[in-house]
Amino acid sequence: MKEKIRELLKQRNAIMLAHNYQPPEIQDIADLCGDSLELSRKAAATDAEVILFCGVHFMAETASILSPQKTVLLPRHDAGCLMADMITAEGLTDKLASLPPMPVVTYVNSTADVKALSTICCTSANVVQVANSLDEDEMLMTPDRNLAMYAASQTDKKIHTWDGYCPTHEWLTPQDVQAAREAHPEAVFMAHPECRSEIHKMADVIASTSGMIRHAAAADEKAFIVGTESGLIYPLQKANPDKHFYPASEKMICRNMKKITLEDIVHSLENMAGEVKVPEDIRIPALQAVERMLAVTD
Ligand code: 13P
Ligand code: SF4
Repeated sequence: MKEKIRELLKQRNAIMLAHNYQPPEIQDIADLCGDSLELSRKAAATDAEVILFCGVHFMAETASILSPQKTVLLPRHDAGCLMADMITAEGLTDKLASLPPMPVVTYVNSTADVKALSTICCTSANVVQVANSLDEDEMLMTPDRNLAMYAASQTDKKIHTWDGYCPTHEWLTPQDVQAAREAHPEAVFMAHPECRSEIHKMADVIASTSGMIRHAAAADEKAFIVGTESGLIYPLQKANPDKHFYPASEKMICRNMKKITLEDIVHSLENMAGEVKVPEDIRIPALQAVERMLAVTD
């Protein structure tokens, strides 16, 4: 199956991108695995004709926003994001009408419609840099209230929040972290910014998925409690075979990130099935918000 996929990728002049939460067998054959920032950078830079995206719908949309001349395939159309579904363009328009004029910073974990109404996008890797890049001292940050509260703790900016969250990260409780710490007292606790703010306060490190991989590789410590979706344990372990990684909670699984199978990938490449394309009237304003983000990020 893996050889067949690599062969189909070659035939289609396609590149295969996979998020760090994807199942091991998918990560193993992808051309690039990464966090949302790295994947959007790669989607913007590749000269392949087809981008096969193994992740969730908003990620494929972001690739289509950045590379409209390419065919972007998402092997499972129902691989969505519960947080991205917690805000709509209409809801954002209503919220903005209730606030004084201010820029809108939107997490890439959002639909293209919402990005199109936003001033600038951000990811979990660059949210602080993006907030500080704005001239204004006050902004609305959507849709993740936890990411917004993390950014607020790291800047002097006044940040209004939208009441969205990622259920996979929201489920992590202080009691879970306490229990993991007691089981592994020597371990460094790494938390994703999508975790609740009481979890941020308990963390030794707060980072995006790829930020956690880089931190674990550079650290002298040998053991880590991983406060994000459990799929990240695989690339962490692969990059650091001599270190130990423990999930902060066994509950941290995003079902949408586990939907794509190798069979779905074969079907998608054979039939060019599952194309994701953002219409031009949405793509152009959404592109502005994504490009502004890339321009202010190191
Ligand atoms: P990052 O890859 O940016 O850390 O994002 C985590 C996430 O929830 C993606 O869906
Ligand atoms: Fe969305 Fe959370 Fe799943 Fe990421 S982990 S795709 S933010 S629901």
